[in-house]
Amino acid sequence: MSTPAHVAIIMDGNGRWAKARGLPRLAGHKAGVEALRRTVRSASDLGIRWLTVYAFSSENWSRPASEVSDLLGLLKIFIRRDLAELHRSGVRVRVIGERENLKPDIRVLLEEAESLTIGNTALNLVIAFNYGSRDEIVRAVRRIAQQAADGQLDPESIALDTVTGALDTAGIPDPDLVIRTSGEVRLSNFLLWQAAYSELVFLPCFWPDFTHELFADALRQFASRERRFGGLAEIGALSSSA
Ligand code: FPP
Repeated sequence: MSTPAHVAIIMDGNGRWAKARGLPRLAGHKAGVEALRRTVRSASDLGIRWLTVYAFSSENWSRPASEVSDLLGLLKIFIRRDLAELHRSGVRVRVIGERENLKPDIRVLLEEAESLTIGNTALNLVIAFNYGSRDEIVRAVRRIAQQAADGQLDPESIALDTVTGALDTAGIPDPDLVIRTSGEVRLSNFLLWQAAYSELVFLPCFWPDFTHELFADALRQFASRERRFGGLAEIGALSSSA
């Protein structure tokens, strides 16, 4: 079975999971963190090399202040409590998203997670935090335009690689598979450039209910898909009939 090298996950449905149980939304996000812990372990067991998770979008700031503060608090706890364990398991942590406008305490934590784990190779965990694809692309365009304005870059030489290399995900392979839980069928500003040829799997379960078995099922769905990247399938069959 072909295993995707890079799986990206939109962890959606924490709020509805909590509501269905008559619990506050924070309980859903806490259960979401548990699901994230399990998923990181599963990803390693399933032979995945890159796992990207959408933890907080640039649009999530529009939620009530108390929920924003809960989510920021959970990120801090996740990094503080889990970093040593992630490091022991050989996980390299990388964070994508806008960082300059974050509070210094969060920025320092994110940098610490990246620098501590920089030498690890078992699994790459990419946390999309304060991330939005359109924002990422705007920041990349700004960087490229600045280089052109400074005379370091000829606009005629701007190519795919120039853009790819200016995104937060520079050096990270495109996701082979994007999974979204909670039954919503959209990308919600997640990896829009990078997911151009990704396979998409939408699962009806809420994120806190995501399990190793559901992960393995999603990989089976992926394995049954035919990826053509805009080309033709079965080149051999075509050329032999020509
Ligand atoms: C979507 O559920 C989930 C989020 C907005 C955040 C995802 C966060 C976690 C899984 C936990 C936090 C993890 C870290 C590392 C910070 P929702 O609130 O949109 O659910 P709903 O659509 O049912 O309301």
